[in-house]
Amino acid sequence: MKGKIPLARPDITDLERKKVLGVLKTPYLSLGPKLKEFEEKIAKYIGVKYAIGVNSGTSALHLIIRALGFKEGDEVITTPFSFISSANCILYEKARPVFVDIDEKTLNIDVEKIEGKINKKTKAILAVDVFSHPADWDRLEKIAKKHNLFLIEDSAEALGSEYRGRKCGSFGDAAILSFYPNKQITTGEGGMVLTNNKRMADLCQSMANQGRKEENGKWLEHIRLGYNYRLAEMNCALGISQLERLNEIIKKREKIAKVYNKKLKNFSEIKIPYIAPDVKLSWFVYVIRLVKRFSQKKRNKIIQEMKRRGIQCSNYFQPIHLQPFYQKVFGYKMGDFPVCESVSQRTIALPFFNNLREKEIDFIVKSLNKCFL
Ligand SMILES: Cc1ncc(COP(=O)(O)O)c(C=O)c1O
Repeated sequence: MKGKIPLARPDITDLERKKVLGVLKTPYLSLGPKLKEFEEKIAKYIGVKYAIGVNSGTSALHLIIRALGFKEGDEVITTPFSFISSANCILYEKARPVFVDIDEKTLNIDVEKIEGKINKKTKAILAVDVFSHPADWDRLEKIAKKHNLFLIEDSAEALGSEYRGRKCGSFGDAAILSFYPNKQITTGEGGMVLTNNKRMADLCQSMANQGRKEENGKWLEHIRLGYNYRLAEMNCALGISQLERLNEIIKKREKIAKVYNKKLKNFSEIKIPYIAPDVKLSWFVYVIRLVKRFSQKKRNKIIQEMKRRGIQCSNYFQPIHLQPFYQKVFGYKMGDFPVCESVSQRTIALPFFNNLREKEIDFIVKSLNKCFL
C-alpha cells in the first residue's frame, strides 16, 4: 500500500477553513461572539447549564480542581489507566492522586475497589471515560454521595458517548472535554468545563481569564489568582462548525469500528473493544488487546513491525503510576495496580479517523495477521 497510515488524522472541511478565516476579518479574535456561541452549543448538546471554553482539556481539569479548593495533602481517587493530565491536574494544586485499579473489561476505574481507598483525607473522585467508554456513573454517584465527596468527570475522549441515556460530560459536580486534534471534534487546541453549578462556572470562567470578575469586571482589576486559559475566536469558529457535523462524524467512526470488528473477530490472538450493554459509544480510538498468553515484548514487536509497513500504531495507555516522574516522586512500582499493568502491556491502538478507507483497514488487518504467522 502506498503512503503511510497515521494513527489519527483531523478532518477539516473547506467550509470550516472558511469559517476560521472569516473570524480574521472581524475585530474579535478573543473573548468574542464565537466563544459564547460555542459554549452555548456545547452546553445544549451535553445537557448542562454552563460550559466554559478554555485552551485545553488539561486547563479545564486544572480549573475544576482549583475551584474545589483542595488543600495540600487532600486526596483525590482516580485511575492509573488514563492520559497523564487526569492525575497531574490534582498535583497542580498539591493534592494527592490516589489510584484505584481498573475493571478489566471497560478499562475504567473499578468501582468495587473505591471504598477501600476512602479515608478522612479523601475529598473527591475523578473518573475518566477511558477510550470514550463511560465509567460506571450510577455507582460512582452513589459512592460520592454516601461519602460526601466531589465527583469529577474527565470526558476528554468521550464527546457524544452516552451512559444509560445520559451524555458523557454531564456527570458529577463538573466535567471536561478536550478538542485536541485526535478527538471526535477539534479546535486545534481547546477544552471545555461543563457544570450545572453556577459558582463553579463563575469561578472557572474568572480564573481562565486572569482572575477578572465574571461579569462586568474592569479589564485591569483582578479579584483572584487567575491564568490565561482563554480559547481564541478562531478555535471556537472551527469548533462550532465541527460540532454541526458531530452526528455525521459519530456515524462515520462507528462504521469504521464495525468494519474493524468484523475483520478482526476471528483472530484468536486478540480481543476487540468491549462495550457495556447500557452504553452508546462515540468511538474515540480503536484499541485491541492481545490475549494473555502474549507478552509486552511481543506487543512492542508488533507495533514496530506495523510501523515498518507504514502503519502507525500506539501503546496507549502506559500506566500513570509507572511514569518515571510518578515513580520518582511517589515510589510506585510494578505490581501496585496489576490489572492496569497487565492490560497496558497488551494494548495496541490501530489507526482510527473519520476518513479511514476500507482498503486501508484491509491492509492494516492483513499486516496484523502477518505479525502472528
Ligand atoms: C483522558 C484525558 N484527559 C485529559 C486530556 C487532556 O486534554 P488536552 O490534550 O486537551 O489538554 C486528554 C488528552 O487529550 C485525555 O485523553
